[in-house]
Amino acid sequence: MKPRYSRAFAKNLKEKAMMTQDEMKQAVARAAIEHVPAGIIGVGTGSTANFFIDELARIKGKIDAAVASSVATAERLKKHGIQVIDLNEAGEMEVYVDGADEITRHMAMIKGGGGALTREKIVAACAKKFVCIIDQSKLVDVMGTFPLPVEVIPMARSYVARQLVKMGGNPVLRSGFTTDNGNVILDVHGMSILDPVAMETEINQIVGVVTVGLFARRGADVCLMGTPEGVKTLTR
Ligand code: 5RP
Repeated sequence: MKPRYSRAFAKNLKEKAMMTQDEMKQAVARAAIEHVPAGIIGVGTGSTANFFIDELARIKGKIDAAVASSVATAERLKKHGIQVIDLNEAGEMEVYVDGADEITRHMAMIKGGGGALTREKIVAACAKKFVCIIDQSKLVDVMGTFPLPVEVIPMARSYVARQLVKMGGNPVLRSGFTTDNGNVILDVHGMSILDPVAMETEINQIVGVVTVGLFARRGADVCLMGTPEGVKTLTR
């Protein structure tokens, strides 16, 4: 039997069902503005971070400057007339806002889908609060479905790949891609990341690894998640 809904209720249901991933990203970008204090803020990389930069432009008078986690982010910030400064000039910041490829309820993340993981981790380390902005597709129980990015010094590529195979992964060189730091990325498939802190530590210790895209030792403090029902806030 067909359920009976009022027209308004049915319209609302339809609108929710049609909410796109980009609309959810836009909604969290807007919500993240509430977490932006006056002063200097750290800004991440990727499509969700891009929506955030566009929102930040509306309140640019409130902030003094931004620290960018990639060349692409720096360019977008500058296009909006937002001053970009070097991290060494900025010192400790109140907030870093960035997206993620996967996040758990414990606020551990996989990042680096856009290849900016090293600078993202550095800028995040200098912020008191990490605000992660995602659409609901990024929330997972166990990370590893998204291939884990590892930034590697080019000459160590094969050595690092062999070590990752010993750990049970299937590393694939990201084709035609060089990071802002002049390195390559191995995307590691098939990892079931049950202990993200231990795995982050282990991979970081492989000689030739610059950064692993696991952000577990320093995870997010707040996660704003876009859903068809609105933005949900998750905390540790
Ligand atoms: C870039 C990143 C991004 O935060 C991550 O890939 C998510 O990107 P998007 O917001 O486009 O889904 O880590 O290195």
